Formats: sequence, structure tokens, C-alpha cells
Amino acid sequence: MTLEVIILAAGQGSRMRSSTPKVLHPLGGKPLLQHVVDAARSLEPSAIHVVVGHGADAVRAAMDGSGLRWVEQAEQLGTGHAVLQALPGVRDESTVLVLYGDVPLVAPDVLQTLVEAAQDAPALLTAVLDDPTGYGRVLRDGHSVFRAVVEHKDAATDELAVQEVNTGILAAPASLFRRFLPQVGNSNQQREYYLPDVLSLSVAEGIAVRTATVADPLAVLGVNDQLQLSRLERELQRQRAEALMTAGVRLADPARIDIRGNLRCGRDVFIDVNCVFAGEVILEDGVHIGPNCVITASRIGAGTEVRAMSHLEKATVADDCTVGPYARLRPGTALAQGARVGNFVETKKARIGAGSKVNHLSYIGDCEMGEGANIGAGTITCNYDGVNKHITRIGDGAFVGSNATLVAPVEIGSGGFVAAGSTITRAVPEAELAVARGKQRNISGWKRPGKVNKD
Ligand code: UD1
Ligand code: CA
Repeated sequence: MTLEVIILAAGQGSRMRSSTPKVLHPLGGKPLLQHVVDAARSLEPSAIHVVVGHGADAVRAAMDGSGLRWVEQAEQLGTGHAVLQALPGVRDESTVLVLYGDVPLVAPDVLQTLVEAAQDAPALLTAVLDDPTGYGRVLRDGHSVFRAVVEHKDAATDELAVQEVNTGILAAPASLFRRFLPQVGNSNQQREYYLPDVLSLSVAEGIAVRTATVADPLAVLGVNDQLQLSRLERELQRQRAEALMTAGVRLADPARIDIRGNLRCGRDVFIDVNCVFAGEVILEDGVHIGPNCVITASRIGAGTEVRAMSHLEKATVADDCTVGPYARLRPGTALAQGARVGNFVETKKARIGAGSKVNHLSYIGDCEMGEGANIGAGTITCNYDGVNKHITRIGDGAFVGSNATLVAPVEIGSGGFVAAGSTITRAVPEAELAVARGKQRNISGWKRPGKVNKD
């Protein structure tokens, strides 16, 4: 059996009230459509066809499109019409699985079962919902045999009472779509060519439709507006938080964590409230993340503590470091073992050697720092001359006094000492003291200015 997947993603999604095409709205940090494509890929089909129309260029550009076959549906005339656009590229002997770009949380095992049931007849995935408003209803005869799907807008009052709905996900042999789709008409309330009409046509020809009902309706909920999107987001975050806790991570509150990428944790990791993780993040054994941290595409070594309100992006932090509170580690920051970066410190493309400390109010950019250096409060690496970026090198055990300005390119030798308030423009040799500030003068007998009488 060969499997081909058709994903419908051409609709505008007008109920989102947004200029972004609906299928590009993010869920758990990636576009709705990307979730569907990833689920489709996990079935290892021979082809994935994606039907695009509204915002097609934006959709193609935003997706990891490798191996996808894009099909244009110039006018959105309905789900049946959409599948019809993709059919010419589908092989006769394939089984076709139809997925919707706006139904993102479908589980691969559910899809696999549906595909297996659809070798010689159509198979439809249904769900039973407390509130079926808006969905197509599944109609059955007196023996519970599937008859048809009727859209909400076309349904009679008694049909509206049916709680079993069409999830939109169905599978069937390609030949069956080829035979019945061209027969689907659009004489309905929305003047659309409805895909589920192939099912009633099939029944009329004596080909029974198999149905499978999902155990958890959440997995097949569609996104039509911001409200539904937010519900799915919460559901997905709940699942991710539970998976972390099952793996042994301690969360201060599973309802107050957002994982918008892939978070991998070692043993005895603790995460306090309101943290956001994006991209690939690795927290090794015993890492402690304080409240309100945002951590993107970073790796944090064992035993390191990231304190409250810190922001890390593309940073690598080794074992036993302390970061924050209120630290900002920008891309290319690498802290070696036991380094400390404290409050209101910004770093960028900076290597901070083992045991070095930048504890307060500094900017360290384009910097190579050795081990055991101590950088005083208010130190600034002046890395930019208005045209180019330059490097500051700080040797092992160097001491930079408070409020020093290091004008790059410049080097502080090992054990070098920079006096507080200095503006350093030339290399400081090993173990020497550099003082580069105005000399203090005290003026004795100086008188404070008195108030001048202006009339
Ligand atoms: C559809 C089903 C409904 C089902 C519901 C489940 C039909 C006629 N109705 O209704 O029975 O209960 O999904 O979520 O199939 N699309 C295109 N081209 C088009 C029209 C739609 O690609 O011409 C795409 C949309 O982008 C979307 C999907 O198909 O991803 C579903 O379309 P939508 O308009 O949201 O259908 P519903 O009214 O939700
Ligand atoms: Ca929909």
C-alpha cells in the first residue's frame, strides 16, 4: 500500500480577523500547518500535497517545505474542490489521507489506524462533542450505519441535535476520490463543493463508509478563531508540562510554563513560574530556573542557577554558573564553569572564562575573557566604532575596576589591573596597573556659589 497525504490549507480563516493566513498562526511556537505536516511525515507517506490559496506565498515561505508538493487552489470553492486540485498528482493505487491545516493536534497513531481501515473503502474520523456548533454532523440510519455528513448551515433542527461530528479527517483509495469527487455539486447554503459529499455518493453506490471515533475530542479540534487557538495552546502546554513532570522535572506550577520549542531536561531540574522556552533548550542535571525567565535555543550545564527575570538567547552556559537576576545573555555568549553574570549585565559574543565574574551593570560584547577575571560594576566594552566591531581580550585573573570603558580592539593582560573609571585605549601589559582617568584636584578655600538677587 502506498500512502499519499493531502493537506487542505487554502482557506482565508476570516474568523481569525488577522492579516496572517490562518494556518500560519503559531501553536506551541510553530505554525498550525507545520504541526499537520509533521504528523503527516511521521506516517512516512510517498507524497505530501499541500493545497494553498489564500496567502500562498507567505505560507510556502514560512514552512519547512522539504519534500512537500504545493498545489494552488486559486479560488476557495470548498473542501471537495480543494482535494480535486491535488488529485491529478496522486497515483491511482495510493490510499489518500486528507488532513486539514487548521486541525493541528492529530495523533499519528489515530491517523495510522484510519489509513489501515481505508484500503478498499472510505474511512472517516469522527468525534463526539458536548458542543457541536459549527461542525458537520454525522448522520446514521436506524442501525447506526453511516449515511452522510450534513454541514451545520445546511442541517435541519433534529440534525443539529446530533453530537457526533465530522473531524474533517478522512482516508480513501485514490480511485474512489477520482470517481466521486467530480460528481459533488454545490447546491447548498454556502455554494461550496463539500468533501464529505463523496461519502454519501459512495454509500449510494453500495460502498459502506467506515468510521472511527476519537477517544479524546481535543485531538481533533479545529482552529477557526482566536478563542479556539488559545484553548488548543493551553491544551498543548498542559501536555508538555505533564510530560516534563513525568520525566522528573519539578515545576512550580504546570499551568505557568510555556514551551515553544523542544525542552530537554536532566534529573532534578526545577523551573519556577512564568518561564518561556523556545527553540532547542537543554537543561542539564540539577539546573534551577528562577521565575519569569525567557530561554531560547540555549544549553545550560549541570548545577547552574538562572535567577529571576533573566533572558538567554543562543547562549551556552557550563556547569555551576550563576546567571541573573535580570541578566541578558545574547547570541554567542558562552560561560565556562562556575562563571557568574549578575544583574543588569548584557553579554553578546562573549566568552567568559571559568570562575570569572561580571556581577553588575555591564555590557560585555565581542569579548574573550580568561579565567578568574573580575569585572567591576558598570564596565563597558566599546566594541563598535560606528562601522566595525572589534574584540576585547581580558586575560586570566585580570581585575577591571568599576565604570571602566574598554575601547576595542584592546587587551588587558593576565593579572592586569584597571583602575576604576578608566578609559582604556591601549593594551594593558600583564600584571600592570592602568590608570586612565583625570587626576583628582582638591581646591581648598573654595566657596559655594550664593543665590543671586535678580531684581
Ligand atoms: C469542515 C467540514 C466539516 C467539519 C469541519 C471540521 C466540509 C464542507 N466541512 O468545516 O464537516 O466538521 O471541517 O473542522 O468539509 N479549505 C481549502 N479550500 C477551500 C475550503 C477550505 O483548502 O476551498 C481548507 C481550509 O483552509 C481549512 C480546511 O480546508 O484548513 C477546512 O475548511 P473550513 O472552511 O475551516 O471548513 P469548516 O467550515 O470548518
Ligand atoms: Ca475549520
